[in-house]
Amino acid sequence: MNHEVVEKNLGLMIALIIVAISFGALVEIVPLFFSKQVNEPVAGLKPLNALQLEGRDIYIREGCHVCHTQMIRPFRAETERYGHYSVAGEHVYEHPFLWGSKRTGPDLARVGGRYSDDWHRAHLYNPRNVVPESKMPSYPWLFTAKIDHKITPKRMEALRAVGVPYTDEDIAGASEAVKGKTEIEAMVAYLQQLGTVLKNKR
Ligand code: HEC
Repeated sequence: MNHEVVEKNLGLMIALIIVAISFGALVEIVPLFFSKQVNEPVAGLKPLNALQLEGRDIYIREGCHVCHTQMIRPFRAETERYGHYSVAGEHVYEHPFLWGSKRTGPDLARVGGRYSDDWHRAHLYNPRNVVPESKMPSYPWLFTAKIDHKITPKRMEALRAVGVPYTDEDIAGASEAVKGKTEIEAMVAYLQQLGTVLKNKR
């Protein structure tokens, strides 16, 4: 009987559908805000240092995340190739996260330590130097462009405002740490730490 009332009244039906769907979303999403598993950093996780943080910014600027994910799914084929699957606690200091959604190139969540610094430099200067069949673009300008060291402390302050535990000393020393460094140095520093906290677990 009641159901008939709903079915014959389009406005009421739309309203009730919205209520039903939002309830579903609330039940799925809200508990995550309070779940330790997604809020708490994994043991040993540290915020990126000044140079690595600048590298991450260049990674975003150059759109590396458009071709590379940083998200290893918990499937055999993925963990055999890339290592331990990604866990939320590794990403709690990332704003925004760079999980990505499309893999034109390999996942980079645990690329840290897989290659030497020299390999990365040769690869980023021109990927065909080390992988002849590569479709990845070249990034030669990273080798001459310098980091703008005046902005680094501000970046850290902004991240601290959203909960990344940078100390006053981290911020005070940030400019000095990146002064005169090239973008390639920052990029390689960033790449070499990726995923290393959980690297050896399988
Ligand atoms: C147009 C897509 C594309 C973009 C943009 C791109 N890459 Fe790649 N990348 C690839 C492909 C394809 C490969 C595999 C071939 C190779 O190793 O060059 C790759 C490989 C890599 C590898 C080696 C991964 C491994 O496990 O062997 C690294 C590291 C890497 N890219 C870093 C970067 C960085 C840093 C940027 C941004 C500056 C970037 N890529 C931008 C497509 C891309």
